Amino acid sequence: MEKNIVLIKGDGIGPEIVDEALKVLDKVCEKYGHTFRYTRILMGGESIDEYGVPLTDEALDTAKAADAVLLGSVGGPKWDDLPGHLRPEKGLLAIRKGLGLFANVRPAYLYPELKAACPLRDEIIGDGFDMVVMRELTGGLYFGARETVEQDGQMVAKDTLTYSEEEIRRIAVKGFDIARKRRNKVISVDKANVLDSSRLWRKVVHEVAASYPDVECVDMLVDNCAMQLVKDPKQFDVILTENMFGDILSDEASMVTGSIGMLSSASLNETKFGLYEPSHGSAPDIAGMDLANPIATILSAAMMLRYSFDLDQEADAIENAVKQVLADGYRTGDIMSDGCKQVGCKEMGDLIAERV
Ligand code: NAI
Ligand code: MG
Repeated sequence: MEKNIVLIKGDGIGPEIVDEALKVLDKVCEKYGHTFRYTRILMGGESIDEYGVPLTDEALDTAKAADAVLLGSVGGPKWDDLPGHLRPEKGLLAIRKGLGLFANVRPAYLYPELKAACPLRDEIIGDGFDMVVMRELTGGLYFGARETVEQDGQMVAKDTLTYSEEEIRRIAVKGFDIARKRRNKVISVDKANVLDSSRLWRKVVHEVAASYPDVECVDMLVDNCAMQLVKDPKQFDVILTENMFGDILSDEASMVTGSIGMLSSASLNETKFGLYEPSHGSAPDIAGMDLANPIATILSAAMMLRYSFDLDQEADAIENAVKQVLADGYRTGDIMSDGCKQVGCKEMGDLIAERV
């Protein structure tokens, strides 16, 4: 198989972790006979330094023409004093919007070897948990009409939460499709006891569910979901939810695994295209020191193979290589515990590539 991948190494630890993901992808190409061609574009701080803006139109067009984008992370203290529209994170929003990436997929998986890092009690963890948050990314409160006005001598601010049936339907379809590749259960999270937009959400999700008789569909109110995530995380397979609920719940779901350097993500649109990136930021405090954990980025590359290229076997090979390295006792500093062998970013990449 031949694919064109756009690489955004980004700032801070970005270049280090992307290089390790490339090492692993090279190994996959060698073993399974694929050819991946890479084009580098600049985004975030690097782009600001070079072109004065966080993302150029040309870079966006290059990304649009690719089969997928693999991203490290952007931002850092060097650019903190810039005005809002020129900050590195604006590049991220611009590329998500420019590519129509309405579905954000964030797995939260607790590796049995990393149980010690999990903040939950043993009896709650049991034999571990494995869930995915499917968050709507281009609608809802973050994109609705907003205004701040003076009224009766005080300031009044307003944000609106808007969803159309079509916006709900397309994310629901993504959620059910992913559930079919997993354990066939969708928990759809809303606030239908209060919000009109949630009542529409629930209605459309039920319509979509009717086309997936093999997938169980359960409704859950968002406040209850926040509680259930720490009370009984094992009940979740796919959490399907709107933008702001998903922002909050995906952070909660990921942190119950206790390890920021392990968590991958994908942002998808209606096509096979996707943007893949670790859930963490550019970790400026450890940049350039060979201390970063590259696993989140390596697992994001595995998601790219699974979701954009339909290479399930190759994605499994990467995920199993990660499990094997952890079972063999190798850890980067962020997931280090007693009795394990501490390795740097590069060595972690080597060890995973070897096991592919
Ligand atoms: P961060 O995720 O970069 O770092 C938080 C803490 O986790 C730090 O102590 C860091 O050393 C550690 N950490 C993060 N990733 C790690 C890894 N792979 N291995 C080992 N340790 C790791 O979040 P922070 O400090 O809030 O933000 C730093 C910069 O990153 C900011 O400029 C922020 O805007 C940007 N950022 C970018 C994101 C992106 O590109 N998608 C997402 C979140 C933040
Ligand atoms: Mg967030």
